[in-house]
Amino acid sequence: MKIAAIVSTKGGPGKSTVGANLGAFCADAGLRTLLIDLDNQPSLSSFYALSHEAPGGTYQLIAKNETRADQIISQTCIPNLSLIHSNDPFNQLSNLLLHAADGRLRLKNLMPAFESDFDLILIDTPPDQRYGWRCVFFTIAHDHPPCLAGLRARGLLD
Ligand SMILES: Nc1ncnc2c1ncn2[C@@H]1O[C@H](COP(=O)(O)OP(=O)(O)O)[C@@H](O)[C@H]1O
Ligand SMILES: [Mg+2]
Repeated sequence: MKIAAIVSTKGGPGKSTVGANLGAFCADAGLRTLLIDLDNQPSLSSFYALSHEAPGGTYQLIAKNETRADQIISQTCIPNLSLIHSNDPFNQLSNLLLHAADGRLRLKNLMPAFESDFDLILIDTPPDQRYGWRCVFFTIAHDHPPCLAGLRARGLLD
């Protein structure tokens, strides 16, 4: 299973659009693809119609360590393309991760739960670089060196 995060310090350059299209392209090519919408403004979550909507989303994933598919994984109308939708309208998760003892590693530690069901995970991110999210993205990016080039170029990584 491969994991990629789409990251930018700015709002509006097209992160969610890239995530949605890349996800659909990969799903169409036969990869079992999971989109995770970590932006509390849920544009990726509303990009595609859903054939099945799970009761929970990113709040349950991050705050409750919930990984059961029937609880958090929605199915888009595109075959092979699933979604964990954003349901953090008050932007609580960033703060929660900042103060959690395992905040830097929590998202990374949740990923193996999806290994048997997905070939690819694409994570859409909010534009802010608040510490709670930033360390989570970097934890993932460190596992995937090609993701780092753009961050280094912008002085966001040592
Ligand atoms: N390649 C593109 N060409 C023109 N408009 C685009 C392109 N990519 C995204 N947009 C538009 O720009 C706006 C912001 O895109 P979005 O993906 O929501 O950005 P972000 O997730 O980075 O905030 C949206 O209205 C989207 O339709
Ligand atoms: Mg976006």
